Amino acid sequence: MHSRRSFLRQGALAATASVAGPAILRGQSPVHTVGIIGPGGMGSNHVRTLAKNPRVRIAWLCDVDRTRLAAAAKTLADAGGGTAKTTGDLRQVLADAAVDAVWIATPDHWHAPATLLALAAGKHVYVEKPCSHNVHEGRLMIDAARRTGRIVQVGTQSRSTAHVRAAIERLRSGAIGTILAAKAWNSQLRSNIGHVPASEPPDTFDYDTWLGPVPHRPYHENFHPGRWRWFRAFGAGDMGNDGVHDIDIAAWGLGVDTHPRRITGSGGKYFFDDDQEFPDTEYVSFEYDSGTNEVGSKKQLIFEQRIWSPYHQEDAENGNAWYGTEGMMLLAKSGGWKIIGKGNKVIEEHPRGTPNLAAHHANFLDTLEGKSPEGAHADIAVHHFSSTLCHLGNMATLLGRTLHFDPATEQIPDDTEANALLKRDYRDHWATPQQV
Ligand SMILES: NC(=O)c1ccc[n+]([C@@H]2O[C@H](COP(=O)([O-])OP(=O)(O)OC[C@H]3O[C@@H](n4cnc5c(N)ncnc54)[C@H](O)[C@@H]3O)[C@@H](O)[C@H]2O)c1
Repeated sequence: MHSRRSFLRQGALAATASVAGPAILRGQSPVHTVGIIGPGGMGSNHVRTLAKNPRVRIAWLCDVDRTRLAAAAKTLADAGGGTAKTTGDLRQVLADAAVDAVWIATPDHWHAPATLLALAAGKHVYVEKPCSHNVHEGRLMIDAARRTGRIVQVGTQSRSTAHVRAAIERLRSGAIGTILAAKAWNSQLRSNIGHVPASEPPDTFDYDTWLGPVPHRPYHENFHPGRWRWFRAFGAGDMGNDGVHDIDIAAWGLGVDTHPRRITGSGGKYFFDDDQEFPDTEYVSFEYDSGTNEVGSKKQLIFEQRIWSPYHQEDAENGNAWYGTEGMMLLAKSGGWKIIGKGNKVIEEHPRGTPNLAAHHANFLDTLEGKSPEGAHADIAVHHFSSTLCHLGNMATLLGRTLHFDPATEQIPDDTEANALLKRDYRDHWATPQQV
């Protein structure tokens, strides 16, 4: 259940996929022609970072918000990346045979539909986290990646961040003994988004395409930009927003490469009186069981969230703890880590580090070129487990009962109400996945 082998295996599947098609040689390195879909918030970080990367030429910028599209073009030029074609229709980017990879930084409800279209068009995909809007979509993405032989890397950049990778290596080497439990916490200080009535979208914003396959609903200023993540039709709350990074690291360190069998959640809106639909206070426990009586067969992952905290926990706004039979490790993805052993002695400390977006891009490009021994560090098949934790955690809290999940079928036997939440409704739209 926990071994160096599983650490390496996590990206290995991706390494077997075929190498990208079109690439022009500039010196020694192939140059990848790419498109950025949704270069608004996080997408603009990708533009800024990739503009400086000699292995990439950004040929397309695509955003349904014309104001943000113009801003992204300026960001690209200012960062030294030259000019790119612009569009509000991602199908134009996918129709360009010169493009070998796309970055998808749209809201979550577009992640799977856009990824499936991109894979069908033969593109490799770097898609933001959480990979999916719901559990079923994650499975469709894995199937499509394997069918097309294309790489799908998910935007949990801590997977390529040196101090986090060093921490996981130490856990794998037995530094705290057999690890039986892990904790991830998300203690943000978010804003009250108020109660805002429906209104007309701005002229510069193609709201219908922004909605995509989501059944039509009136525009709401609290949807765009960024605040869509607080609504169930579009996002996964803060567990799927900042929390998914820490949940992903917790599961990685715990050494689980399957789904939990039992999920219990509690919480709600204890602080904010506003339009947000997800809990601001949440506690979820995920239990893993590989079915033997050996120590290490049963494991627990705990997630805590308070998004009204003007203080940090254990010196980390977001953090992780792993509890082993010989000691514990505390880690902050934007900080350092330490190991505490018997008698509460700090027995090892690691200097501070910060999430490294450029390294995660480099790992994706290395994988396209067949140069990454481990493949994509956040391959879709690995990341799907982490996004699923967020979806199941939110479901357990919403339903207020323990969910008994079958990792093999990705179903909750004998619970029709819960199973319905593993999927969502779509409207008749060009981006609605054929398989739903
Ligand atoms: N990896 C990280 O550290 C990190 C950090 C922040 C956000 N994110 C992720 O990035 C994604 C975007 O988050 P954000 O905060 O930037 O949201 P945002 O709303 O600020 O930006 C999303 C952009 O996508 C555009 N868009 C929506 N649908 C589109 C479509 N069909 N075609 C083209 N453009 C479209 C929007 O107009 C907007 O400009 C989310 O998945 C989020 O979880 C990741």
